[in-house]
Amino acid sequence: MAERRDVVIIGAGAAGMMCAIEAGRRGRRVLVLDHACAPGEKIRISGGGRCNFTNIHAGPKNFLSANPHFCKSALARYTPRDFLDLVERHRISWHEKTLGQLFCDNSAKDIIAMLLAEMKAVGADLRLSTSISAVEHDGASFRVVTENGTVDAASLVIATGGKSIPKMGATGFAYRIAEQFGLPLVETRAGLVPLMLDPATLAAHEGLPGVSVEVVARHGRTEFREAALFTHRGLSGPAILQISSYWREGEEIALTIRPDVDFAAIVAAARRQNGRQALQTVLAEHMPKKLAQLLVTELGIDGPLAEQSGKRIEALVQRLRDWRLRPPASEGYRTAEVTLGGVDTAALDSRSMAAKAVPGLHFVGEAVDVTGWLGGYNFQWAWASGFAAGQVA
Ligand code: FDA
Repeated sequence: MAERRDVVIIGAGAAGMMCAIEAGRRGRRVLVLDHACAPGEKIRISGGGRCNFTNIHAGPKNFLSANPHFCKSALARYTPRDFLDLVERHRISWHEKTLGQLFCDNSAKDIIAMLLAEMKAVGADLRLSTSISAVEHDGASFRVVTENGTVDAASLVIATGGKSIPKMGATGFAYRIAEQFGLPLVETRAGLVPLMLDPATLAAHEGLPGVSVEVVARHGRTEFREAALFTHRGLSGPAILQISSYWREGEEIALTIRPDVDFAAIVAAARRQNGRQALQTVLAEHMPKKLAQLLVTELGIDGPLAEQSGKRIEALVQRLRDWRLRPPASEGYRTAEVTLGGVDTAALDSRSMAAKAVPGLHFVGEAVDVTGWLGGYNFQWAWASGFAAGQVA
């Protein structure tokens, strides 16, 4: 005999747990299934272990999607303030880091414990280490076949996230279910991901790995002003992760090094005051020494400042303002924080996250073609979309 619930949620991540809390609060009998042996594993490792659980500035402009309007309804009905109220009710202390990013003072595990306590309070059950063998639908009810038995439910919520970090159990499950029910997908790709550089550039960058500098990273009209980090494989750091979501394989990105510094004026003044000093010495007052050295070497600049032609100095200033790099690839899903693309929002109702063509079937969180910037936006989407589905499932 199949077990019977009102709502089955597959995936005990941020979106699935939030959905369970809201559906349970409405008196629905909820069961959450997950193949992992612990819930909220991505919450646990997020934000360097302190979980950047929301961003107080989160709004539709911070999300990428084929339909940028889709996220508006859910985001408006469950705001960063709503999540913060929950955090404060559980007496979890938090702080704002920069740019509206809110983190736990203590540990990301506090957020997981909070969600589990809320689920328990509304009677939502959680079953871990459960692999799903099949999902069936007879037109009225869903049947979820697991290795430990079968569960029937009127509503099925798919909250299994994207493909990022397969080592942590990420699967393409949501996309397979969407395909099974004839729903369209937007092509997926790795987002918020370090970018690789070609071997010749990496060889020239020898010594740079570990160096971090404030930049504006640009791709087309999109730009982010944050830190960039040189790595053994290429480029990382918040500015690079942000721009990676807009970049496509083989395209160029541009960096402005220390956008707040007027290098033309600084070099001109240094030349007037002490023409015997080397250019890299002047630059190193405003950026890591190794980066200053690389820039002058790459442009073939050698000897004292007074001996450098105006053209060479202009070339250097131009490089600092507009350093073009063409990463051949990203590091891919192995290290990506999120998956861009996913279940096409055209097939979903933006208020309930339900599939328009399949009553009772909902998709929430990262599985959907809505992807946030770095900085707490992706969790805000998980909470908001999970909440939206939980209000009707
Ligand atoms: P999520 O991936 O959290 O959960 C999916 C669940 O489904 C998992 O429990 C998984 O085990 C389960 N599952 C998958 N396939 C299944 C299957 N076939 N059968 C059964 N269960 C299955 N965002 C942010 O806003 N602030 C931050 O600080 C960070 N930091 C961060 C760090 C790192 C290293 C990563 C990789 C990501 C982040 N993120 C983040 C992004 C954030 O973690 C992500 O957007 C959300 O966790 C997405 O929530 P979901 O609930 O949609 O999926």
